[in-house]
Amino acid sequence: MIDDDGYFGESVAATYDESSADMFAPDAVEPAVKVLAELADAGRALELGVGTGRIALPLAGRGVEVHGIELSRAMADRLRAKPGGEAVGVTIGDFASARAPGTFSVGYLVFNTIMNLTTQDAQVDCFRNVAAHLAPGGTFVVEVMVPQLRKLPPGQNAVPFYVGANRLGFDTYDVATQAMASNHVRVEDGRGSFRTIPFRYVWPAELDLMARLAGMRLRDRWEDWSGAPFTSESETHVSVWEKVAD
Ligand SMILES: C[S@@+](CC[C@H](N)C(=O)[O-])C[C@H]1O[C@@H](n2cnc3c(N)ncnc32)[C@H](O)[C@@H]1O
Repeated sequence: MIDDDGYFGESVAATYDESSADMFAPDAVEPAVKVLAELADAGRALELGVGTGRIALPLAGRGVEVHGIELSRAMADRLRAKPGGEAVGVTIGDFASARAPGTFSVGYLVFNTIMNLTTQDAQVDCFRNVAAHLAPGGTFVVEVMVPQLRKLPPGQNAVPFYVGANRLGFDTYDVATQAMASNHVRVEDGRGSFRTIPFRYVWPAELDLMARLAGMRLRDRWEDWSGAPFTSESETHVSVWEKVAD
């Protein structure tokens, strides 16, 4: 299940784009790229967990210099093999600690990937690492779900997010530790497969404290990339913190 490439090794990388097709659709990609291009302004952008380049490649296509940090060589290889992939530099390593060359105007971590860091310490380290890469006034953007604890009655620990004839997806929560797992069951040609990825769920206010520990303060919080207001009913947020000048 897990090797040096983490949870996104060769078998996952081979089908990542197809299995995340909704997230590659223009209506999912373009609003994010627009916001990030504006935040980059004339500067450089750093994507943590750059994957196969879903966001990095169209952002680079808009003339922004993009660099990625990525644990999985298999995912990075897919990025490099795509048209324009040679323009996106990739540092192989853990985005909680790996250093990419140079200074950036914007760092970003999308598609719930902050939750791939499964301890609070690692998430705090990630904020500190991003801050170390940013110029004063630079921004850090996180797109992540709001933990769905309101869907859990006492005694229940699973929240289904997809239920179909050949596919079942459900998240499990441990509310004592904030440990979470995303579970995927598939049935193809009568054969079943199961994949589980560990996460640590994290609250918006907790992220604000992590940002403060790293010398950043909240600039914007929206429900999504369109800039819709973040409310008590929002199930996702896009948050932007700004590095305070030293
Ligand atoms: C859900 S995918 C998102 C990929 C891409 N950002 C996108 O939006 O399509 C998460 C990516 O983060 C990478 N990743 C997870 N934990 C990481 C870590 N600690 N350091 C570096 N990369 C990591 C995974 O290998 C994977 O490529």
